[in-house]
Amino acid sequence: MDKRILLGVNIDHSATLRQARYRDYGRDFGENVEPDPLEIALAAERGGADGITVHLREDRRHIQDSDVRRIRAAMSTRMNFEMACTDVMVAFALEIKPNSVCLVPENRSEVTTEGGLDVFSQINRIASIVKKFNEAGIKTSLFIDPERKQIEAAATIAAPWIELHTGAYANAYFLPEQRTLEYARLVEAAKLGHSLGLTINAGHGINYVNIAEVREIPHLHELNIGHTIMSRALLIGTEAAVALMKTKMLGR
Ligand code: PXP
Repeated sequence: MDKRILLGVNIDHSATLRQARYRDYGRDFGENVEPDPLEIALAAERGGADGITVHLREDRRHIQDSDVRRIRAAMSTRMNFEMACTDVMVAFALEIKPNSVCLVPENRSEVTTEGGLDVFSQINRIASIVKKFNEAGIKTSLFIDPERKQIEAAATIAAPWIELHTGAYANAYFLPEQRTLEYARLVEAAKLGHSLGLTINAGHGINYVNIAEVREIPHLHELNIGHTIMSRALLIGTEAAVALMKTKMLGR
C-alpha cells in the first residue's frame, strides 16, 4: 500500500527573492513587487501541497506580517506557522489562527533555522505556550533534534506534534558513516516519539534525492520542505515542483 505522507510546502524563499529587490518599497510599489508569496502558495496548493508553511522571523527578512494575513485569507489547505517562542509571535499567531504552529529557535545570525528547539531546558515556558495554543484549537509542533531527552520533554508537556530536525542527516548525506548514524537517530527518534503518543513530522534539508530515504522513516505524518522545491520551481514552475515532490514521496 502507498505511504501517504503529507507535504507542507515552505514558501519563505519566494519572499527572500522579493525582499532582495523590493525590501524598501512595500506593496505600494504595485505589481512590480514580485514574486508574490501568495501566488506561490496558491500554485503550491494546485500542485498538491497539503499545507503551506511560513516562518515569520523576528527580523522579517523574508515573509512579512501582511503576507501571512493575505495567504491565510486566500488559501484552501492548512497553514503551518513557524515562529520563535516570543510573546509578540504568540499574540500574532493567536490572531491569525493558523491550523498549526511550529515552535523553532531563532538566532539572528543564522541564514536558516539551524539547531532544534531546546524543549528540555525551557520546559515551563514552552508548556505555557502549548497550553495557549491548545485552548485556541491550534496544534503545536516542536522543532527538535532527534534526541531522547527532547522527545521525552515534548511528550511530558503534551505537545501534540514534533517535527524532527533532518538537517544533520541531510548535511551528512555524502559521508556514508555519518549518514547511517544520523538516519538511525531519526528512525529511533520517530519510534520513540510515536510510542509516547506524539505525531511525527520532519523537516529541514529534505530534497529530491534524500526523500527516497527520508520517506522510509517510520510513523511520518508530514514533511515540511522548502529550499529544494523553491529552487526547482525556478526551472519547472511551482506547481510542477510540488507535484514532483509528491510523486517522490510515494516512492515513484
Ligand atoms: N522545517 C522547519 C522548522 C524549518 O525551519 C525549515 C527551514 O525554514 C524547514 C522545515 C524547511 O527546510 P528546507 O528549506 O531546508 O526544506
